[in-house]
Parts: sequence; C-alpha cells; structure tokens
Amino acid sequence: MKPSPPPPLLPILLFTIFFLFPTIITSVSLPLPPKSSPSSPSTSTSTLEPNQLKALQSLNIPTSKNPCIQPSFHNATQCDSSKPFSHLISLTLSNCSTSLSLSYNALKSLSTLQSLHFLNCPIAPIHFPPQLTSSLLSFTSINSLHKISGVWLSHLANLTDLTVSNTPIKASGPYVILAHMKKLKTLTISNSNLTGFLPKYIHSNLTHIDFSSNNLKGNIPFSITMLDGLESLNLSSNGLKGEIPSSLGDLISLKNLSLASNSFSGSIPDSISAIPGLVHMDLSSNQLNGTIPKFISEMKNLKYLNLANNNLHGVVPFNLSFIKSLTMFKVVGNSNLCYNHSVLSSKLKLEIAACDKYGRPMSPPPAKDSSGDDSNDSDYDEEDDESSIHKREHHHGPNKFVLGVAIALSSIVFLIVFLILCSKCCR
Ligand SMILES: *[C@@H]1O[C@H](CO)[C@@H](O)[C@H](O)[C@H]1NC(C)=O
Ligand SMILES: *[C@@H]1O[C@H](CO)[C@@H](O)[C@H](O)[C@H]1NC(C)=O
Ligand SMILES: *[C@@H]1O[C@H](CO)[C@@H](O)[C@H](O)[C@H]1NC(C)=O
Ligand SMILES: *[C@@H]1O[C@H](CO)[C@@H](O)[C@H](O)[C@H]1NC(C)=O
Ligand SMILES: *[C@@H]1O[C@H](CO)[C@@H](O)[C@H](O)[C@H]1NC(C)=O
Ligand SMILES: *[C@@H]1O[C@H](CO)[C@@H](O)[C@H](O)[C@H]1NC(C)=O
Ligand SMILES: *[C@@H]1O[C@H](CO)[C@@H](O)[C@H](O)[C@H]1NC(C)=O
Ligand SMILES: *[C@@H]1O[C@H](CO)[C@@H](O)[C@H](O)[C@H]1NC(C)=O
Ligand SMILES: *[C@@H]1O[C@H](CO)[C@@H](O)[C@H](O)[C@H]1NC(C)=O
Ligand SMILES: *[C@@H]1O[C@H](CO)[C@@H](O)[C@H](O)[C@H]1NC(C)=O
Ligand SMILES: *[C@@H]1O[C@H](CO)[C@@H](O)[C@H](O)[C@H]1NC(C)=O
Repeated sequence: MKPSPPPPLLPILLFTIFFLFPTIITSVSLPLPPKSSPSSPSTSTSTLEPNQLKALQSLNIPTSKNPCIQPSFHNATQCDSSKPFSHLISLTLSNCSTSLSLSYNALKSLSTLQSLHFLNCPIAPIHFPPQLTSSLLSFTSINSLHKISGVWLSHLANLTDLTVSNTPIKASGPYVILAHMKKLKTLTISNSNLTGFLPKYIHSNLTHIDFSSNNLKGNIPFSITMLDGLESLNLSSNGLKGEIPSSLGDLISLKNLSLASNSFSGSIPDSISAIPGLVHMDLSSNQLNGTIPKFISEMKNLKYLNLANNNLHGVVPFNLSFIKSLTMFKVVGNSNLCYNHSVLSSKLKLEIAACDKYGRPMSPPPAKDSSGDDSNDSDYDEEDDESSIHKREHHHGPNKFVLGVAIALSSIVFLIVFLILCSKCCR
C-alpha cells in the first residue's frame, strides 16, 4: 500500500542492536580482566625499592612478579609511582599462618604504607615503628591480631579509615581509641567486645560510624547528633538505653540508621522524618512506645523500615501506596499495634491484629507460621475483590520480574510480526 516500504534489513539491524548487543557486551567484558591481568607485561611500572622487596619476602608475600604491577595477587600490594624505585603504599595480609611474625625491621622499611589491612590473620600483637604509625591513613583488622588494645590503636592518629571487626579490643571505651584521631572519616568497630560509653566529644568529619555488636552502654550523646556529615550510623546490638534524642533529626546527611537490638525507650521522635535522604531505618528490638509518627510516610527516600519487636501502640498510620514503595516493612511483635482494616489488607501479612473502631487491636495477630495463603481464608477477608489485588502485591519481586519478561516477550513477538509483515510487503 505504501509507496516504498522500508527494507527488512533496518528492523533486523535495530533488533540486533537492542536485544543482542547488550548480551554480547556483558558476556565479553566479564571474563576479560582475569584473562589479561596476570599475563600482561608491565610497561610503565617501575620496580619496588629493594629493601621493601626484601621485607615483603620476609613476610612470605609472593613476589615472584613485581608486586607493583596492578592488579597484584589478590590486590595484596599497591605502589606509588616514584622514581627510580617505587614504594609500597598499600599492603593486605590475608589468611596468614599463625606462625607469621612481622619483624620490627621489616615493618620499619615498610613505613611508606598508607593502608595496612589484616584479614583472617590471627597473629600475635605487633609493635609498630613510629614512622609507620604516622604514615598510616587506613587500618583494618578483620578477624585478626588475637587481641588489640585501645591504647595501641589510639597511636594511629593520622587515620582517616579505621575498621576493626571480629577482633576483641581491650579498652575502657571508644574515647580512648578515638581521642586523637581528628581526621577520621569512616569508623567501624564491630563485633569486637568493645565496652564503655559512646564518646562525649567527637571532633572530626565522620561520615560512617559502625559500632554494631559490642557491649556499649549508656545513652546516645549529643556529640553524635552534631556530626552533620554523618551518612551512616549503626549502633545495633549493644546495651544502649534511654530515649532516642530528637536532635537525631539534625543528622541531615544520614542515609542509613540502625539502633536495633538495644534497650531504647520512649517514643520515636517526629524529627527523624526531617532527615531528607534517609533510606534505611532499623529501630527493631527495643522498648520504644508511643505511636508511629505519621510523618514517616512523607520520607521520600525511605526504602527499609523495621519497627518490629517494640511496644508501639495505636493504628499503623500508613496507606497501601506508602507500604508498597518500601522494599522492607516490619512491625511484627508490637502487641498493641493494629492496622486499619479499611485502609490495609490482611494479605499484607503485617502479623499484627486489625483495629477495632477505637483503634485498638481486635483479636490476637495471626500465627507467624500459618503456612499457605489458601489453606484458611475465613479470618479477615470480607472484601474479597480487594484482597485479590493485595495478594498480587504481596509477592513483590517475582511479579516485577514476570512483568518484565512479559513485556520483553511481547515486544519480541511484536517485532517478529512486524518483520513478517514487512517481508510480505516487500515481495
Ligand atoms: C582489586 O582491586 C580492584 C580495584 O580496587 C577491584 O576492582 C578488584 O575487584 C580487586 N580484585 C580482587 C581479586 O580483589
Ligand atoms: C582467604 O581464604 C578465603 C576463604 O578460605 C578465600 O575466599 C580467600 O580468597 C582467601 N584470600 C587470599 C588472599 O588467599
Ligand atoms: C600525621 O602526619 C603528619 C604529616 O602528614 C605528621 O607530621 C604527624 O607526625 C603525624 N601524626 C602522628 C600522630 O603520627
Ligand atoms: C573537616 O571538613 C572541613 C570541610 O570539608 C575541612 O575544612 C576541615 O579541615 C576538616 N577537619 C578535619 C579535622 O579534617
Ligand atoms: C568480652 O568482654 C567480657 C567482659 O567485658 C569478657 O568477659 C569476655 O570474655 C569477652 N569476650 C571475648 C570474646 O573477648
Ligand atoms: C548494622 O550492623 C549489623 C551487624 O553488623 C548489620 O547486620 C546491619 O546490616 C547494619 N545496618 C546498617 C543500617 O548498616
Ligand atoms: C546502607 O543501606 C543500604 C541498603 O539498605 C545498603 O546496601 C548499604 O550497604 C548500607 N550502607 C552502609 C554504609 O551501611
Ligand atoms: C513510654 O516509656 C516512657 C519511658 O519508659 C514512659 O515514661 C512513658 O510513660 C511511656 N509512654 C507510654 C505512652 O506508654
Ligand atoms: C498515601 O500516603 C501518602 C503519604 O502520607 C500520601 O502522599 C498519598 O497521597 C497517600 N495515597 C493515597 C492513595 O491515599
Ligand atoms: C479507618 O479508616 C477509615 C477510612 O479512612 C476511617 O473512617 C476510620 O476512622 C479508620 N479507623 C480507625 C480506627 O482509625
Ligand atoms: C480455619 O480456621 C479455623 C479457626 O480459625 C479452624 O477451626 C479451621 O480448622 C481452619 N481450617 C483449616 C482448613 O485450616
């Protein structure tokens, strides 16, 4: 009918570009780096300073190849670009044998290091030469170093990044460790049996604090809520108590907050909803009471909200579209909390009771392990046309996937039909 139908070559080409090309790219680019990296000859890397090379050999670091070639074996070493010899700036010791000993002299000749990481290196405590102490900017001990003292750590005063995890620390409190680290940006001391109180003074530009899984006690001090560059605060699984200070709302850069598994009491401060970028909020397993602030539903970026196992009461102040916008929402384990039957459906499986007309729980919440959806429908489902909608919403992830596949399939079918029509036109 049309005077000049487009040649079938064009749609085929488009089809190839849109559907096949991405898969070609991903399948080619993934295996490439491992293939090329070990064998590629070094062109611009200079060799490591001989004393440092000797020191590395004394530590049983494989140095058959130049340790300055990137990426090095398991990324264990990294060098600067000084001439004629380069110097080591980063060293990662992983899976060490317990017999490994770091000699003082070896460490002394490695005092150009800015990063030193121990991963699964349960070696005896080490005495650092002062040159190394002042050169280090980043220090990590994960499941390493038997036991370290807070005083020993406190000497690393130039650190910007400190990570200690699964490594028991002997210290009377975080203050001992942090008092002199005025440049610290990211701080993780987790699962390390740290005792004492959160420090009253933190004079630094911290962006990340993770004190999770220790034995800290006391309140959240004002000092923490003054860190206006803080993006992540994790105080979970400690013995902290008291009210959540309303000044927590001053943490305007905060994205992740976990106060879970402590003994915080009182109510959830409204001010939390003033944190514009908060994505992840976990207040579960405390003794928080009062009602859930309705303002939380105005937090545009929130994706993860866990309020489970507290003493919250009243009506859940959220509508379906808000709850659907979250990837994770939990309120189970608040025996005086209930949901408005005409706003939310039992199919959401909030595991709390529906409200009576006074906003109090109507009946005990459904049992946690009630298995199938279809085994017993008698309970709360008066409005059946609605519940079928909610049923679909209940399985969030898979449905998006199915939808995606359906769209992809139908576009392919459409294209094929289009191509057939085209080819018929041409003939
Ligand atoms: C080495 O480090 C680079 C960049 O930091 C990273 O992309 C790569 O995955 C690391 N390789 C290994 C084996 O850890
Ligand atoms: C250390 O051991 C772990 C687990 O055994 C392994 O996944 C990792 O690749 C090892 N790392 C190095 C640098 O050997
Ligand atoms: C921190 O680094 C500076 C040089 O950047 C150095 O002069 C100072 O001694 C170091 N501080 C400590 C406590 O090591
Ligand atoms: C903190 O950050 C500000 C601005 O980014 C900077 O001017 C200041 O020097 C930093 N303070 C410390 C102790 O690093
Ligand atoms: C943790 O600290 C307590 C005392 O504060 C001590 O009794 C316990 O042995 C420590 N645990 C580990 C694994 O160091
Ligand atoms: C806090 O730390 C715990 C334990 O290390 C971890 O499981 C959790 O994901 C962390 N939460 C946030 C918000 O970083
Ligand atoms: C913050 O939370 C997000 C998602 O909940 C997680 O992927 C990310 O690793 C967290 N960041 C930190 C620093 O804990
Ligand atoms: C909530 O807990 C606080 C402190 O435990 C208590 O003073 C307050 O009366 C409680 N409020 C309600 C409504 O239960
Ligand atoms: C659901 O609640 C949000 C936040 O309170 C509100 O902006 C939105 O209009 C509500 N949606 C419906 C369908 O009521
Ligand atoms: C439940 O929601 C309906 C409709 O929005 C409202 O009329 C009713 O008062 C609410 N019930 C309770 C207990 O809040
Ligand atoms: C459904 O629940 C009722 C009481 O809640 C119970 O008597 C009945 O046996 C249950 N039926 C099935 C099929 O589980």
